[in-house]
Amino acid sequence: MISLSALHTFGFNTFAKSVKRVDSLSTLYALAQQNIPNVILGEGSNTVFTEDYYGVIWQNCLSGITFTEDSDFHYITAASGENWHQLVTKCVSLSIGGFENLALIPGTVGAAPIQNIGAYGVEISSFISEVEYFDFQDKTLKTINAYNCQFGYRDSIFKHELRDVAFITKVMFSLPKRYEFVTHYGELSELENPSIDSIYEAVIRVRKNKLPDPHQVGNAGSFFKNPVVPLEVFESIQIQFPDIPHYPISDKYIKIPAAWLIDTLGFKGTIEDGIQCHPQQALVLTNYNNGTGRSLLNFANIIKSAVKAQFGIVLEHEVQLLGQTERIVL
Ligand code: FAD
Ligand code: EPU
Repeated sequence: MISLSALHTFGFNTFAKSVKRVDSLSTLYALAQQNIPNVILGEGSNTVFTEDYYGVIWQNCLSGITFTEDSDFHYITAASGENWHQLVTKCVSLSIGGFENLALIPGTVGAAPIQNIGAYGVEISSFISEVEYFDFQDKTLKTINAYNCQFGYRDSIFKHELRDVAFITKVMFSLPKRYEFVTHYGELSELENPSIDSIYEAVIRVRKNKLPDPHQVGNAGSFFKNPVVPLEVFESIQIQFPDIPHYPISDKYIKIPAAWLIDTLGFKGTIEDGIQCHPQQALVLTNYNNGTGRSLLNFANIIKSAVKAQFGIVLEHEVQLLGQTERIVL
């Protein structure tokens, strides 16, 4: 059995039967002739192995990045196993703008399109032109354009039709040379003369203040997604809580920060069986003191039930939870 504690950022001391490293397309083709993965793994920053895993894990180690440009765009093709933050840092050092708001998001390039990573007012879908993937059904490489990826808030086709079908191998980005810095979100609005470097540094500073470093304490970032609710639902909560923070998504839908719902119920900073609701960010659960997968699922369910009981909102977890053989849905 192989220890999974270093292969997922929650760090539970769980084990797997088999981990296969995919470091070239030929390895991918060869492996796919014999079997298919039970789970594809990048850096495990959005995956929690809640107990020993009896399936086969395919660990993405594909590498290589190319940069080209024309008069209007920078074009980047990055192998899916590359580290996301290193790519952002490289772009900042080359004065290629666009990714700076997404600095310090853990994980691989290949996982970025899956939940359409986003932070500080930017989602990666704005810069993706195409995604290349290996299709397990007919064992060929395919390319899908951004429109067909069906990107949404923490969502894409890779969580639906292409789940368990696609191993993302490359992501192609187009970054316009002329674009506006995005500084409306939170502390970024205080920047006086925003630049690629100053936004990059500010994002890193804010994130380091709020979010726990997985190297210090196990976590997978936001545990739940921010709920998007119909306007009437929001308005009925607002009567009782006039200060509820909210972001209109359209005329009919409002996004509410799940952190606020959880914080308002008094969970922030509390500890249940080794799992803590992070004192600086109530949406993040951490492996505070030798927690287990069972205690994490238990605490997450307590929070979910309390939010449902008080606000009538059903939280959905953002993290991918794995049991012995299958995904767990709370
Ligand atoms: P993994 O956890 O390894 O995999 C995630 C999912 O994608 C799994 O279902 C896996 O099977 C699948 N997958 C991975 N690679 C492939 C592939 N090549 N082909 C097909 N399927 C694949 N996310 C944000 O959006 N914004 C944030 O601000 C943010 N902040 C975070 C902060 C912290 C401290 C942490 C720990 C996480 C944060 N996250 C954030 C979540 C996480 O960083 C992202 O979801 C990231 O994209 C996950 O990358 P990974 O390589 O670790 O994915
Ligand atoms: N808030 C509280 N209590 C808290 C924290 C926040 O009430 O403990 C309220 C505040 O009103 C605050 C609002 O929630 O203004 C939003 O908080 P924050 O800016 O920290 O963002 P978030 O909505 O909690 C989302 C993403 C993060 C991303 C940040 C920044 C989701 C699920 N999470 O968090 O992504 O980094 O915005 O853009 O959308 C992740 O996906 O893992 C992740 C960390």
